[in-house]
Amino acid sequence: MTSTRQITIFDTTLRDGEQSPGCSMNLSEKLELAQALVDMGVDIIEAGFPIASPGDFEAVSEIALTMHGATICGLARCSDKDIDRAWEALKHAEKSRIHVFLATSAIHREFKLKMTREEIIRRAVDGVRRAVEYCDDVEFSPEDAARTEHDFLCEVVEAAIEAGATTVNIPDTVGYATPDQMGATIKMLSNRVPNIDKAVISVHCHNDLGLAVANSLAAIENGAGQIECTINGIGERAGNCSLEEVVMALKTRADVYNCETNINTPRLVPLSRLLSSITGLQVQRNKAIVGRNAFAHEAGIHQDGMLKERTTYEIMRPEDVGLAKTDLVLGKHSGRAALGDRARELGYHLSGEQLQEVFVEFKKLADKKKDMYDGDIHALIQQEILGEVENTWQLVRFQVRSASGETPCCEITLSKDGEEFTQEVTDGDGPVDAAFWAVEKITGLEITCKNYRVRSATLGRDAIGEVLVEIEHNDKSYRGRGASTDTVESTIHAILDAVNRIVAQRTA
Ligand code: KIV
Ligand code: ZN
Repeated sequence: MTSTRQITIFDTTLRDGEQSPGCSMNLSEKLELAQALVDMGVDIIEAGFPIASPGDFEAVSEIALTMHGATICGLARCSDKDIDRAWEALKHAEKSRIHVFLATSAIHREFKLKMTREEIIRRAVDGVRRAVEYCDDVEFSPEDAARTEHDFLCEVVEAAIEAGATTVNIPDTVGYATPDQMGATIKMLSNRVPNIDKAVISVHCHNDLGLAVANSLAAIENGAGQIECTINGIGERAGNCSLEEVVMALKTRADVYNCETNINTPRLVPLSRLLSSITGLQVQRNKAIVGRNAFAHEAGIHQDGMLKERTTYEIMRPEDVGLAKTDLVLGKHSGRAALGDRARELGYHLSGEQLQEVFVEFKKLADKKKDMYDGDIHALIQQEILGEVENTWQLVRFQVRSASGETPCCEITLSKDGEEFTQEVTDGDGPVDAAFWAVEKITGLEITCKNYRVRSATLGRDAIGEVLVEIEHNDKSYRGRGASTDTVESTIHAILDAVNRIVAQRTA
């Protein structure tokens, strides 16, 4: 009997995931997510691309400084400046990894890099050698490897390992590979690269054809020891291999794959929901493992089967992915400790002061709303702790009047640095439009609304209404979130959250 292989889970939610539209996060959100990834047992966290922006650098540095247990990785192109900057951000980590990449496919060589094969090998070797001077854990990725000629791919991989790479990652950058091809490529590298035993083979599959998880599993079957993936499968274009899907496939079909991971699977659903609350991007209802319908049985014949024997229609237990039977948790009489416990369960790490802030709002909400669900707790924490950046502009009070056939009127008072500013607007095609006008007039910022969504955080008529806005200012897009049982108030909070992100970026 063959022994079970341990697969390394490399999470790139904070790098490949975060760089995709609608997924950007601020520092506190990234720290919250990184801690939840550590708690779930992820082996390696790719925390960002330090040279890409001061924000990325700061996030990688903070994560490196504060996280314990996982290896923290930073991305760099094969250039001295990138690698030096990556190390600068990573140097305080308990365990760190530098990930250097360079494209190798003919199409990238000819049109993007305008480099010969020899130049590519030289640049890759120089990059790996520089990274090795700083850190003994170095990963090299030949970008677009899945479309690279096999002979050349073998040459690059051999040279990178010879230069000191301890992991070679084979990306399917454009999601073009099929499972058979991906498996064959990994097998080919294992058979043909003479020093392959000195490195771990990893794969990084994009999901353009919906094959990222299947391709990653095919790679594992053919010897890959590391999978790069993201929570909810977020990432460039159609996203990356979804962490929850690949991990549960390995666990549920251990009979086929004979592999295991360090992931504490009951943390999967809470982490998926944490990411959705942070980014505002909800997963589709029928998404495998973490979608709302993933364990719902609607058809009568299925329900009947389930009642007789669960395994007739269920291949995984909901509790194994962290799906509680009910999410009704707290009420008016619940104390701060109960709220703290539930927040921790949902993946948040609140300081005593933060818990107190959330508790005050929790009590106010409990007066208006009898039953508190997980969605309410998420919304409160997002609103009080994570949602707003530096609260430069704050809502003091507002009033709206809206009636059939009449132009809406919105009066808003905001405060900034202790001074109050009031604006009344009788304009727009509804109270939301009027609120946008009023905030624009007070703050003097020109903003265009690109997206506006309201969703109910939980069940029932008294549910919190969560508003997510995407606004554009000077050709840049900013996200904002607001939550309240009053939707106009949620709207104003969401606009202010986005406005405060603009102000924070201007002053950074
Ligand atoms: O998709 C890709 O090729 C990447 C590399 C940087 C690994 O994200
Ligand atoms: Zn990628």
